[in-house]
Amino acid sequence: MNNVHSQRVNSLLGAIEDIGRDAKRGGYSRPVYSAAENTLREWFIAEATGRSLEVSTDANGIIWAWWDLPGSAKNAASRRGALVTGSHLDSVPGGGAFDGPLGVASALAAYDQLAAREASGELVRNRAMAITVFPEEEGSRFGVACLGSRLLTGAIDPVRALNLRDEQGNTFAEVATAHGLDPARMGRDETALAQIGDFIELHVEQGKGLNSEEHTDHAGRGPAIAVGDTILGHGRWRLSFSGQGNHAGTTLMADRSDPMIAAAQTIVAVRSIGSAQDNARATVGRLEPVPGGTNVIASRVDLWLDVRHPEDAVTAMLVEKIHGQAQKLAAFEGCTVHLTEESFSNTVHFDAGLTRSLAQSVRRLVPGAPLLPTGAGHDAGVLAALVPSGMLYVRNPSGISHSPQEYVEDDDASAGVVALADALEDLL
Ligand code: GLV
Ligand code: MN
Ligand code: MN
Ligand code: MN
Repeated sequence: MNNVHSQRVNSLLGAIEDIGRDAKRGGYSRPVYSAAENTLREWFIAEATGRSLEVSTDANGIIWAWWDLPGSAKNAASRRGALVTGSHLDSVPGGGAFDGPLGVASALAAYDQLAAREASGELVRNRAMAITVFPEEEGSRFGVACLGSRLLTGAIDPVRALNLRDEQGNTFAEVATAHGLDPARMGRDETALAQIGDFIELHVEQGKGLNSEEHTDHAGRGPAIAVGDTILGHGRWRLSFSGQGNHAGTTLMADRSDPMIAAAQTIVAVRSIGSAQDNARATVGRLEPVPGGTNVIASRVDLWLDVRHPEDAVTAMLVEKIHGQAQKLAAFEGCTVHLTEESFSNTVHFDAGLTRSLAQSVRRLVPGAPLLPTGAGHDAGVLAALVPSGMLYVRNPSGISHSPQEYVEDDDASAGVVALADALEDLL
């Protein structure tokens, strides 16, 4: 599997390894439409154009690189029902090198293999193929994950999306406009959706699935590739605690209504409520005191809650429990709390037929490739509501993601490309 085409994924990733490094946090910070992410988009466009793919950016900011059928027109009609693969180039703050870019680079490298097979007459295609790059998959800048695919599918109202703000107070409308997009054209795009016959996203595995006891051999090594099965339902909520802002030196301890205290106690409650429920994940990873000064008792503290569970009713119940507990803790401190749902995605079961086809293709290369559920959200999960979608995961020996420790070995990245190319060929 270490042929020239599959090795190419490692050199593609090597070409971007210095873009968006975060000296303070470690790893990479590549928020959507930042200088770093713009550079990555330009890199992708140059790579795709250099391969003679026809590149365009749609109304929602999704980049499409088209490999049309030989001799066919290059229009929406000839591209209906195409095979589409891709991922994203934005990252969480201080994220790893692979979450997103691995899927994009692997798609380019898989295309190289398929184009060589077509040139030699080994591959005769029945449909066009495209590689896509989705904006704001992580929701790190505007708060809603998979914003590009949600806009494309109509899963978010464009008016709501356009009014989302980043930490500097810029609206998504302003930032999108500055990047050449027309806010009035954003939203569900039937033409683009009709072009996606099947969608496949290759991604670094973000947990310990491939390294779990169930899947590892006597040497403790798991298979290089897995096929996606389900995505846990997940959502984000903001809890805003309000109290009395005041002076840290002149306010007696007994006189305080400090929202930081209510927030801190709620974080502990989130941990215990999440731990008491089988298969649940409940996290507070972000907290913002207002105004945020060392010698200032905050007047408000916002914290963001991420809750995930395979049953959506259980997720709702957990959030309700956390909210109830936050209300009690806030009242005890003389504060109030307000809960806002920022996004929610149902549990996703990937398309059964496509998953079967992916498993068959991948198992020719990696006989033990398992079907794996994941707790991580993906554009493939959003698209799955409207088009057959599936995923491939590449082994991550660290089992860690959304961290600089996320890792993929070169040989596994190469195996991912071959697996993706084989799977795409079987579907073309
Ligand atoms: C995105 O990676 C998410 O699952 O939060
Ligand atoms: Mn990702
Ligand atoms: Mn991610
Ligand atoms: Mn994700």
